[in-house]
Amino acid sequence: MSTKKEIKLDFNSAWELDPAPEDTKHVSIKKQYDLFINGEFVKPNSKKYFATYNPATEEKISEIAEADEKDVDKAVKAARAAFGPWSKLSGKERGKYIYRIARLMQERAREFAVIETMEGGKPIRESRDIDIPLAANHFFYYAGWADKLEYAFPNKNPKPLGVAGQIIPWNFPLLMAAWKIAPALACGNTVVLKPAETTSLTALKLAELIRDSGLPKGVVNIITGAGKTGAAIVNHPDINKIAFTGSTDIGKLIQKSIAGTDKKLTLELGGKAANIIFEDAPIDQAVEGIINGIFFNQGHVCCAGSRLFVQESIADIVIQKLKDRMETLKVGDPMDKNTDIGAINSKEQLLKIQEYFKIGKNEGADFYQSSCSIPKKGYFIKPTLFLNTSQSHRIVQEEIFGPVLAIQTFRTIEEVIEKANNIPYGLSAGVWTDKGSKIFNLTTKLRAGIVWANTFNKFDPTSPFGGYKESGFGREGGLHGLSAYLDLK
Ligand code: NAI
Ligand code: MG
Repeated sequence: MSTKKEIKLDFNSAWELDPAPEDTKHVSIKKQYDLFINGEFVKPNSKKYFATYNPATEEKISEIAEADEKDVDKAVKAARAAFGPWSKLSGKERGKYIYRIARLMQERAREFAVIETMEGGKPIRESRDIDIPLAANHFFYYAGWADKLEYAFPNKNPKPLGVAGQIIPWNFPLLMAAWKIAPALACGNTVVLKPAETTSLTALKLAELIRDSGLPKGVVNIITGAGKTGAAIVNHPDINKIAFTGSTDIGKLIQKSIAGTDKKLTLELGGKAANIIFEDAPIDQAVEGIINGIFFNQGHVCCAGSRLFVQESIADIVIQKLKDRMETLKVGDPMDKNTDIGAINSKEQLLKIQEYFKIGKNEGADFYQSSCSIPKKGYFIKPTLFLNTSQSHRIVQEEIFGPVLAIQTFRTIEEVIEKANNIPYGLSAGVWTDKGSKIFNLTTKLRAGIVWANTFNKFDPTSPFGGYKESGFGREGGLHGLSAYLDLK
């Protein structure tokens, strides 16, 4: 194995207020990564590897193994063999292992944050303060449930499902791995997980952590590759449950391909959330909520507030304040702790967003970008608004998955509810108003799995997350997240 030559990166600058101790000053990334099956790293059957890049510099970071059907079969067999003993372990014992994973993740948080940012493009501030701590919190939270399943589901005789195949996207790589693995293990299932092809590294670091944690071999297997590898997991006959987060197109494909089998399925797909600002809202706070709603993680967020509805009477002032605030956003080097908007995750995604710029302009919407400069190298997009959009525009109906906000105005509450719901998606929404009654009225009428009031993009392991309509089905997080991994009488 070519594990000796390691890239050494100095990331002390990212931790000025909290300098790293000597032994964690550097993050080590191997030149090549193998598949994590049955507790060890093994070469892929095909001997094929693909490159992974830093989207901020376009430089190659490492090479990742491509798993084929034989590798998937090996991983599923390992998970199946591990399932018996793991599911028979007491909940308390399972919980101990999961706590250990959580603690190790906290100890190695810096390394995870740096790698997440290097490979994914997100600002280091977000990886450090949000993604990695939340991922560890998911393990802590579900570790606590492992010995309380009987209390969580009284008289339901909760039993694990078996082997779970888990396929995750590139926008929150480690966090999505945590969302999937932690509840599955707490319930006594074993796992074959595949990260997205542009962001495999923190999942592979997690594999190293899991190996070091002493978790019994085969309980978690992490294999890498693109769509073909994902499809091989979905179609493997000895998988009991598929959990997928990603595009609506692939979600539909997965649903079709497992139709007629007894595999259980949860899908967490796209979104196009309405962020609704009423005239009685605290305007400065609402502007912060709009900024956070759409520019957090470059807008690569399924629950992003990508449609702004602002009440007509305050539209001018809100839009002016929004434009002023956008001027202060720093777009650039994701490793710089002052950066607000990092790199677009891949060239493919950059081209997709640029294509939507053309579409929006052709549809007749007004295009506006902040005047900031962006680096010459790497994949970057300035924070962008489309004004004067209408309900039928593609930029209003379709998920762009970038720092691009489509703005509409409204007069009445009925009108905004109608427009907010008139869309194929139903994942999340935001409401900004001073009136509690308005909030309650809207939370019952908006067809969205999550409705935030006077805040946006707030996540917590205790709250269920998931959508309606083309945003998928099933819930992750909280008690609901457990039931997705249990057979309940
Ligand atoms: P994708 O849905 O193709 O990829 C998500 C995951 O599914 C990856 O791990 C991928 O390797 C895997 N996959 C791809 N084809 C598969 C198949 N046939 N069977 C099983 N697994 C498969 O998403 P992609 O292509 O990366 O992004 C396209 C668009 O999807 C984005 O522009 C965005 O609009 C949307 N998207 C939405 C996400 C969300 O969280 N709502 C996350 C990622 C993408
Ligand atoms: Mg795809």
